[in-house]
Amino acid sequence: MASILPWGRKRHEYSVLLEKLHAKHKGDPYWHKNTVWENVEFIALLMVSVLTISALAILVAMLVLFVVRTSLSDQQCSKRLSIWSPLQEQVSYIEYDFDNAFAHQTIYRGPPTAERDAAWGALWRYNGVSIPASKLDKVNRTEDLGNGQHLMRSDVNHTTTKDRSYRALIEVFHQLHCLDLVRQYTWREYYFSHKDKVSTPADLLVSEVEQRMHVDHCLETLRLTLMCHSDITPLMIIDDPSSPLGSSADFNVHHKCRDFEKIREWMEENAGRAE
Ligand SMILES: *[C@@H]1O[C@H](CO)[C@@H](O)[C@H](O)[C@H]1NC(C)=O
Ligand SMILES: *[C@@H]1O[C@H](CO)[C@@H](O)[C@H](O)[C@H]1NC(C)=O
Repeated sequence: MASILPWGRKRHEYSVLLEKLHAKHKGDPYWHKNTVWENVEFIALLMVSVLTISALAILVAMLVLFVVRTSLSDQQCSKRLSIWSPLQEQVSYIEYDFDNAFAHQTIYRGPPTAERDAAWGALWRYNGVSIPASKLDKVNRTEDLGNGQHLMRSDVNHTTTKDRSYRALIEVFHQLHCLDLVRQYTWREYYFSHKDKVSTPADLLVSEVEQRMHVDHCLETLRLTLMCHSDITPLMIIDDPSSPLGSSADFNVHHKCRDFEKIREWMEENAGRAE
């Protein structure tokens, strides 16, 4: 490496010369002093070089890290920010406006009909999936749950522990089931008084206490889910003199979302519809 001092190239020649002179003047205190000075200068130069190289290396490393970080795909970011899932490769993001004005009509809104209940059921009625033993640590579990309970196996008699797999549901479908149950519960009387038009959901054909427990579990599931995801998307307020408050909310909020249809496609192919 070239020295940062101009005489660096001559260093070798010079030290040869010095050594010759040193040999010639052995015992002379002047030459002894000079050799010490040369060592000090050399060490200083070495330290400057090492520091310069270190600083450069750190700079390059930071640059590489910056480029790598900023070039992560949405899916790679999602992997980093989520618990492992067999669906992690299915995650992709799309941006769109929610279509949810206050009185907006969709198949999901309104009193129960066979069609409406089927549309809701279609959002979440999927079979479970299989989680290989090698991924258990990624979902923070071991086969033996340590409280006398064990995970349910989905493999067929594999003898080696590492070949085993375990049954699991996928949260978003459990969460949608919960929302559906709360919806059904709000129409409970309606179901019982319109038995000719729409069949009563199985979850409402249990005792009142059991219904209440299920609904409370579901409300809690949704509370935990909403807080876990903490959607910080701005919901804009519209200047609206016709409204009693002088303003109204723009519920058609622009969101960046996981593409639910892509996740559903994977479930169709790999888990299959339930019932
Ligand atoms: C699960 O995570 C907790 C911390 O959140 C950790 O203490 C525990 O060891 C983990 N258990 C397994 C089986 O990975
Ligand atoms: C699994 O193993 C048990 C005991 O070894 C045996 O009784 C059972 O028939 C096996 N099941 C299947 C599906 O192979």
